[in-house]
Amino acid sequence: MERIYLDHAATTPVRPEVLEAMLPVYRETFGNASSVYSWGREARKAMDDARAATADILGADFNEIIFTGSGSEADNLAVKGAAWKQRHKGKHIITSTIEHHAVLDAVKWLESNGFDVTYVPVDEDGLVSAADVETALREDTILITIMHGNNEMGTLQPVEEIAALARERGILFHTDAVQTVGALPIDVKQMGIDMLTLSAHKFYGPKGVGALYVRKGVRLDPLIHGGAQERNRRAGTEDIPSIVGLAKALELAERERQSLMPRLITMRDRLIAGLEQIPETKVNGHREKRLPNNVNVCFRYIEGESLLLNLDMMGIAASSGSACTSGSLDPSHVLLAMGLSHEIAHGSLRLTLGRSTTDAHVDYVLQHVPPIVTRLREMSPLYQA
Ligand SMILES: Cc1ncc(COP(=O)(O)O)c(C=O)c1O
Repeated sequence: MERIYLDHAATTPVRPEVLEAMLPVYRETFGNASSVYSWGREARKAMDDARAATADILGADFNEIIFTGSGSEADNLAVKGAAWKQRHKGKHIITSTIEHHAVLDAVKWLESNGFDVTYVPVDEDGLVSAADVETALREDTILITIMHGNNEMGTLQPVEEIAALARERGILFHTDAVQTVGALPIDVKQMGIDMLTLSAHKFYGPKGVGALYVRKGVRLDPLIHGGAQERNRRAGTEDIPSIVGLAKALELAERERQSLMPRLITMRDRLIAGLEQIPETKVNGHREKRLPNNVNVCFRYIEGESLLLNLDMMGIAASSGSACTSGSLDPSHVLLAMGLSHEIAHGSLRLTLGRSTTDAHVDYVLQHVPPIVTRLREMSPLYQA
C-alpha cells in the first residue's frame, strides 16, 4: 500500500539537495566558528553565507538574523526577550487566542511574572481584526505578537495592518511566520515587522533549527546566557550544518514557491470541495485568506482520533488539531476560540499538502474518507441517521 503524507504543517522531509549541502559541513567544516585558525574561519564563512542568504530572502540585513534551536525558541526569544528588556517602559502585551503554544505559553509565563496580557479574539473564520487590536492598545503596551498563518486551520492574519498600528505608536510587533515562510512572499521591511519567527523543518530543512529576524535597533534580553555568539543574543556554539541546511531549504523554497503554491491551492480547494459533500461537515478557517496547503474540516458526531487511526490504516497520515495537542483528548484551543463547541471540535481533520502531493493522492483521500466517516458515525451513539 502506498503511504500518503498529508501532515506537512507538522513537519516536512529534508530535501535531498539540503542534505547534500549539509553533509560536507558535517564532514569537513567542523571547526568552531569562534576560532581564529582556518578551520574556524571556514566554519564562520559557511555560517555567514547562510545568514546572508536567509537575510536576503526575507528582505532583512545580515545582522538582523539570529539562528536558534527551533521555531519555539525563536518565539520565546522574541516574546520574553523583548518584553523583559522593556519592562520598565510598560507591562502590557497584546496577542491572539489562536497563537501557537510557543507564543501563548511564553506570554502566560510573562503574565505569571507581573505582565498584563490581552488576548484578542477571532471571528468564526479564525481572523483577528486589526480594529480589535487597536481597541486593546494601552498607554503601557510594549509588544504585540500575532501569528502570520495559523498552523491548525490555515487562516492568514492581517499582519501588515497590525504592524502599521504598532509602528505608529512605537510598539514592537512580532509575528510567528513558521507556517508562511517558504510558502508566501515575505519582506520584513515592506511588511513593517520588527521580529519574525521561522523554522527550517516546515520548509524541507532540518529539524531543530530556526531563526528570528530582529530589526536593527530592537533590543532583546537573551534567553540563553554564556558566549557572545549571535551578537550576544543567543549563547552556544552554532550548529552550522543545520544553519546551512536552513538557508539552502529556504533558497529552494523561494525558487519553487511561484510554481508550487498555485498547484497546492488547486488541490487544497478540490479536497475542501470534495469533503464538504459529506453531510454534517464544516470547513474551518477562512476560504480565501488561507495557507495554500491547509485543509481543515470537522465531521459532526465523530472523534478526530478514531478518524486518524482509520486513515492511518488506509496509509494516509493526517492530523487532528495541532501536532502538539494530538495525542491529548483536549480539543484544539484554536477551534474553540473560533466558537466551535467541544463536541464538534473533537471531530476535526487537518490535511496539509506538500511538494510530494499529487492529484492521485487527492482522489485517494476523497475516495476513502467518506466511507470511513459513515462507518464511524454508524458506531456513534450521538448520530441518528
Ligand atoms: C505556527 C507555529 N509556530 C511555532 C512552531 C514551533 O516550531 P518548532 O517545531 O521549530 O519549535 C510551530 C510548529 O509546529 C508552528 O506551527
